[in-house]
Amino acid sequence: MNKASIINELQEIISYGKRERDKILNSSENINFSLYEKVTAFEEDKVRKSEHSTDNWQNKIFYADNIKVMEFLLKNGYKGKIDLIYIDPPFFSETNYNRRIILNDGEKDIFIKHFAYEDRWRKGIKNYLEELTVKLYLMRDLLSSKGSIYVHLDWHIVHYIKVLMDEIFGRENFVNEIIWSYKSGGVGKRHFSKKHDTILFYSKTKNYIFNVQKEKSYNRELKPYRFKGVKEFKDDIGWYTYVNTKDVWNIDMIGRTSKERVGYDTQKPRKLLERIILSSTDENSIVADFFAGSGTTGVVAEKLKRKWIMSDLGATSIAVMKERLIEERANRFNLYRIPHEEDDSIDFKIKIKKRCPWDFFNECLEIEIEDYEIKDISKLPVNRKYWLKIKDILEKDSFEFVEYIAVDTDYKGAFFSFKQEHYRTYGNKRGSFNKNILLKLEKNLKKRNIAVQLIDVFGNEKIKIINL
Ligand SMILES: C[S@@+](CC[C@H](N)C(=O)[O-])C[C@H]1O[C@@H](n2cnc3c(N)ncnc32)[C@H](O)[C@@H]1O
Repeated sequence: MNKASIINELQEIISYGKRERDKILNSSENINFSLYEKVTAFEEDKVRKSEHSTDNWQNKIFYADNIKVMEFLLKNGYKGKIDLIYIDPPFFSETNYNRRIILNDGEKDIFIKHFAYEDRWRKGIKNYLEELTVKLYLMRDLLSSKGSIYVHLDWHIVHYIKVLMDEIFGRENFVNEIIWSYKSGGVGKRHFSKKHDTILFYSKTKNYIFNVQKEKSYNRELKPYRFKGVKEFKDDIGWYTYVNTKDVWNIDMIGRTSKERVGYDTQKPRKLLERIILSSTDENSIVADFFAGSGTTGVVAEKLKRKWIMSDLGATSIAVMKERLIEERANRFNLYRIPHEEDDSIDFKIKIKKRCPWDFFNECLEIEIEDYEIKDISKLPVNRKYWLKIKDILEKDSFEFVEYIAVDTDYKGAFFSFKQEHYRTYGNKRGSFNKNILLKLEKNLKKRNIAVQLIDVFGNEKIKIINL
């Protein structure tokens, strides 16, 4: 047997996947996810919420390994409840991925890459396939009878996953192999330039949701056909008709100058997710992405008024997706994680500057954030080549590293309720940061705790409490 060949191992990988899935579902262990943050920043959106929701649904972000998240969901009533799962897992690319941030050193902008996630498999391809197989079985259990799954991969591993998915979902439930074709930097000199990803689309049953999408199709020679009963249109390029969308999708990837760009390597375009969500969900559907990265699936699902669940195990990813959703004025969502030790890698102080009248029902409190510090630069998820630059900027203005501050004006202790936010803009341009924060407080409370949460560009998080 060729040692590098995986062909003979596929049957074993499938058996492993089934066995592990059964073990997980039959174990009596109860995973203890707790709500640690509620984002309810936009009061006016409560109106919008009641317009499109008849139940108590809350959109959810889980900060955890997705195997635990799926186990939790399956043991807590979500079996057969999800209409669409999109995943964009590590592609077996044997590379590390980063988030690119812009900092100002007082004179100019500089770029720093910090580690976001690893796609390296020291135990080899079999281990990668085994892990994903268990998860695909769990995803199958989560899908509703009208549900679909889209698995986003590329040439590294898609051929093996296709074989495994035929086994897990049934060959009869294979729907499409979608080719996402794009332009990007880098050309092939000894091969054709690799400019597409592959998305495998399977349904749970034959009764799956599918809403046909239309796309432009330019006429041959760009001239009108004038066929009877066919509507034709003309734009700057030429004459076209609308046809049912084909399985090769030409969608721009997130380029350096793209407005969507949040600096997270492997961020996928909204347009891609829009097409998938519109095709495979209805208004009341739940959409899940268990490898959520920068949160594109949730951001698009939110815009399309779908219910959503996302998970990721990276602090950077969670910080980026949360900020992105808030910047998009996402409706209420909750964050969950398994109870953990408090993060001690950063610190800051709060100074109360003044209390003052606001209006008849409210008073104001002005606070100032002081002395933000990173305790140990060598523990940051960055290459040591950046240490000097970071030290230099920390000395000049440590607040350059603060991504945002959120305030819970009535902190009860169990979870942080995100009510007011103060952040700078992400992406290609970096906004300024105001350390003085004016809070509006209802007068009727005699005693209250205010919690101030600071998140830095590396995803480090710290909460400080003020007792009034
Ligand atoms: C290719 S990225 C997803 C990018 C995403 N589609 C977007 O538009 O930003 C893969 C993500 O999977 C996450 N990931 C890898 N293994 C995971 C696991 N076991 N549980 C949860 N997330 C995981 C990584 O942290 C990374 O953010």
